[in-house]
Amino acid sequence: MSEKLGGSQDVFYAHSNTVPLPLIVKAEGIWMWDDEGNSYIDVSSGPVVSNIGHGNPRVADAMAKQAREMDFAYSRVSRHQPNIDLTARISSLAGPGYERVCLASGGSEAMEIALKFLRQYAVAIKQFEKRKIITLSPSYHGGTIATLAITGDDALDPFLEGFAVKSERIPAPFQYRVPQNHTPETYRMACAEALDVKIREIGPENVLAFVVEPVGGLANGAQPLHEDYANRIREICTQHGVFLIYDEILCGTGRTGKFLASHAWPDAHADIVVLAKGLGSGYAPLAAMLAPAELVDKLASLTGFNFSHTYNANPITCATGLAVLAEYESQDLVAASAERGKTLRRRLEKLAEKHPSIGDIRGAGLLMAIELVTDREAKTSFPAEFPPTEVVRKYGLQHGLIIYSRRTANGKYGDWFIVAPPLNITEDECDELVSRLDATLGDFEAEALARNLMGKS
Ligand SMILES: Cc1ncc(COP(=O)(O)O)c(C=O)c1O
Repeated sequence: MSEKLGGSQDVFYAHSNTVPLPLIVKAEGIWMWDDEGNSYIDVSSGPVVSNIGHGNPRVADAMAKQAREMDFAYSRVSRHQPNIDLTARISSLAGPGYERVCLASGGSEAMEIALKFLRQYAVAIKQFEKRKIITLSPSYHGGTIATLAITGDDALDPFLEGFAVKSERIPAPFQYRVPQNHTPETYRMACAEALDVKIREIGPENVLAFVVEPVGGLANGAQPLHEDYANRIREICTQHGVFLIYDEILCGTGRTGKFLASHAWPDAHADIVVLAKGLGSGYAPLAAMLAPAELVDKLASLTGFNFSHTYNANPITCATGLAVLAEYESQDLVAASAERGKTLRRRLEKLAEKHPSIGDIRGAGLLMAIELVTDREAKTSFPAEFPPTEVVRKYGLQHGLIIYSRRTANGKYGDWFIVAPPLNITEDECDELVSRLDATLGDFEAEALARNLMGKS
């Protein structure tokens, strides 16, 4: 037990988490500094949040200006311009089919809003049986009880049992390791067909929605869905009258080189998209559910969407969101993500020639993950007693890198860490990041070798 009162959030983490966390006192661009003056590169933008980089003075000014002018007006009993302007801006960037934007304070809350909205819609049109949700295994959709229940992670079963309603699960279309009788192409299409089989098994009349991340985060190590897979799941959902929700909480808002990651697939438009993280870019807790006017207006003409959270669409957050999106525009950050993503990927691929622990580099734009293996050819994962995600995080800190990684699903699907720096990272900063990563992986591999864990390259 801590001797002091309160403490930072890590007092709640397991005592077995041994990597000491730096005390950050300053941040600017891709850089962070601790209380001892050590500099770090924010390799993963926190948990893929700080898309526009730290310490942006224009965003800080917009926040202060809004706080001085009008700090709060409750959206249940009043309207305000920053709300109107922000939803119009998000909707125009997202494009047709997403005319309505319901704001929230975080990804999990926005995902719950999406599920609640669709369920209320089904009830309003008297489709009372539509309540089942289908998700991928593995996947991550949030940390609240309902969103944990739809998160594809079997390790949560003892917690959820008798406590919350779990989603139905189908396999995620992993492309790095595929079952022996499959190629990546045949496997991803088999995974798409698993949705059709699952819906038929449950009965389409009982299925409300299929929720999927267009590019995963930590749960699957930045695995992008293939366009063929996306087109097929869209077809299946349409055929069975099941809503398709894209969880773009992490991969949306320009991360992959498009405003929505799913803009990469013009024929696989979702019914609902959920955004968070990069939308507020760390300056304010901001998230959004994007929905077509047709659905929202229909529900409004029946029961209305019954929801309310105190901080939804609060003026300071809306003004912050507008200032963040203005930075996307003035710095052309969506294009920068595509461009800089290519540069960084090339450099990481070069690094892989030197480091046999790099099994796979995958992702889209500036949302990438590096999978760590003991043997590149055999694609063998590290054993349970050597969680590579923790070891790489430890050496990263020693070499001035803050890396987002954590062993997920007990390493069942592999181990990876996220490489997703702020979208305005420069070429020189990419070089510095890769050089620090080189040193980090050097130490990582030395420890793995010393423990006889690394195989041949
Ligand atoms: C894909 C995905 N969905 C949902 C969430 C939950 O968002 P939040 O942590 O803002 O509640 C996250 C957060 O990491 C995420 O990556």
